[in-house]
This record gives sequence, structure tokens and C-alpha cells, in this order.
Amino acid sequence: MFKLRHFYRAPNIEEERAFERANIQSKTPRYLETNPFVRFENDVAYKAKVERIAAHLGNLKGFILDIGGNTAGEATILKQQGFNMVVGDINEVALDVSRQRVEKFGLSSPHYVGLDAHNLPFKDNTFSAVTVIEALHHFFNYDQALGEILRILKPGGKLFSLEPNASNPLRRASEVRDRFRGTIEKSFFVRQLERLCAKAGFANAAARAYPSGRSSWKLEEVPAYRRATTRLHGWLSENYPTVFGGLMLEAYKAGELVEQDASDVPLSAVLRSPVNHCELSFDASRRLWVERDGQLGFPDLNGIPVLVAKDAIELNRR
Ligand SMILES: C[S@@+](CC[C@H](N)C(=O)[O-])C[C@H]1O[C@@H](n2cnc3c(N)ncnc32)[C@H](O)[C@@H]1O
Repeated sequence: MFKLRHFYRAPNIEEERAFERANIQSKTPRYLETNPFVRFENDVAYKAKVERIAAHLGNLKGFILDIGGNTAGEATILKQQGFNMVVGDINEVALDVSRQRVEKFGLSSPHYVGLDAHNLPFKDNTFSAVTVIEALHHFFNYDQALGEILRILKPGGKLFSLEPNASNPLRRASEVRDRFRGTIEKSFFVRQLERLCAKAGFANAAARAYPSGRSSWKLEEVPAYRRATTRLHGWLSENYPTVFGGLMLEAYKAGELVEQDASDVPLSAVLRSPVNHCELSFDASRRLWVERDGQLGFPDLNGIPVLVAKDAIELNRR
């Protein structure tokens, strides 16, 4: 549905969250019936994407945070490959769909956290790597989100991101359409990504174009009248990636990475409140994640902490 108010201003974070929730609710049956591994084996572009991420993660053993993970297909596959994945998204409904799917297919589960990329609910120097896959362009303040990523990375830790390419005229046209649908869709130039990372304090930020192709599974969601154009776009991205492909970014936090195997580390050990930045513990009787002094709590959705500042609940009001 078109929203005319977005002619004057881009969607804000609450509108983005509402859009993402409604979007995933409409697609839940399809997501629940798809085993991520079956998709991985049959969808060439998707397989290449997951393998690209895995290659850039190498043999890291510490926690890896995927921000904007949505239903976490990529992180689910990476988890089965031995990576200690934590998936975060502002849309906790999508995380819950992922949780149900992992349960249904008997897979090993990543950790899930509802979060806002601009205010990450994790302690400093926690993650060996952060992945942001086609999600950075959804954030409304890149400096703030990148500053938060830098804070939670361990020294020597890596940011790996795949993002849309602003040189692509077809992409730019779809961004106009999506703005009126009520979601934040943007894209980047190579140098812009590198400059944003350098400004946030990252070392050795390097971006480049890559052939992103088109997912055959996603193509099935595209209305029939647009499929030929989408296929052509996929072909162009494979053959002329500089203009029609995606952008791939790698950047580091200065220092030398020292990491421990995080397989047995409970998620609660690395969480912190997005409001007062103190530790949180789970109160099973109230099903809330509660700050140390018991004044503020945060919701839990079927075992998923939802640590978004706006969702904080005041407890023990006198
Ligand atoms: C295009 S989806 C990317 C999904 C997935 N990474 C992939 O590659 O298929 C963008 C995701 O970013 C999430 N997102 C948007 N704004 C966010 C924010 N401020 N904090 C965390 N996640 C956010 C959306 O809810 C959505 O799931």
C-alpha cells in the first residue's frame, strides 16, 4: 500500500518496524515450510551468498552477531557449520519465525535478540565479528549504528557487510517505490561505505562490487509481470557487477583478535540493558529481562529477549 506522507519524509524507525512485522506476518507460512538447507542446496545465488559470508568469517570461534538477520536463514546455516551465531533484529516477530523453523526441522539454534542497531544491548568488546547483510541501508543513522558495532566488536574483530549498490539505476528506481511503501530502502557508493567506516573509527575499511545474482526462491515472491525484469537484473549483476552487482564491505576494529570458543557461553553473559547499560537477568515468573536494580524490565518472546529501549517496562512503581 502506498503512503503519501512519505513523499515529504522517509519512514521513521517505528514505521520501519511496523512494516517489517507486517511483511513477515504475511509470509510466515512460506518461511516456516522452507528448510533453510533445502533452499541452500537449490537456490544458486543464496548458496553463493552464504558461502561468501562463511569464507569471510574463516574459522572464528567467538560470538558472531548478525544484525538485521530477519528470519535468519543465513545465520541458521552458519550455526550448523559451527559458527557461534547471535541474530539480532528490530523485528522480533521474524526472529520468532526463525526459532519455530529451527525447532520444526530439528536444527541447532542460533541465539536470538530483539534489538535496535543504534543502541545494541551487548557489553563492549564482545564479538569476534559482526555481519550486516542487506540491512545497513535500513538504519536511519549510519554513524550511530557503526559506532555501536565498533563498541561491541573485540579489538581485531571484523565487520562484514553486503549492501545494495547506488551505481545501479534499477536499484535506485526501486528505492523510490519502496519509500512510498513505508520502508527504508537506500544504497551506497563504494567510497561512501569506506568513509562511513573510517569516520566511525574502523581500520582498513575496504568495499568493492560483487556479482550478487538473484535468488530463485525470492523470485517466486515477485509478481509474474515483474519476473522477466528481475531475471534480467540478476543476469546483469552477474555479468556487470560494478554497476549492477551488490557491494561487499570488510572493516576491522584496531588491535589483535584474542578470542575464546563461545559454544558454551550463555547469551545472558554478554547482554546489557539498552537503557542503563547494566546487566540483565531473566525473571522466569514474570517472563521479563530485568535490570540489576529491578526498576526496568524488557519483554521476552518465546525465549527471545526483546531489548529495545522503547519497549522498556517500569517495574516496582511506588
Ligand atoms: C532486507 S532485511 C535483511 C534480511 C537478511 N539479513 C537477509 O539478508 O536476507 C533488513 C532487516 O533489517 C531489519 N532492521 C531494520 N532496521 C533495524 C534496526 N534499526 N535495528 C535492527 N534491525 C533493523 C529489518 O527488520 C529487516 O529484518
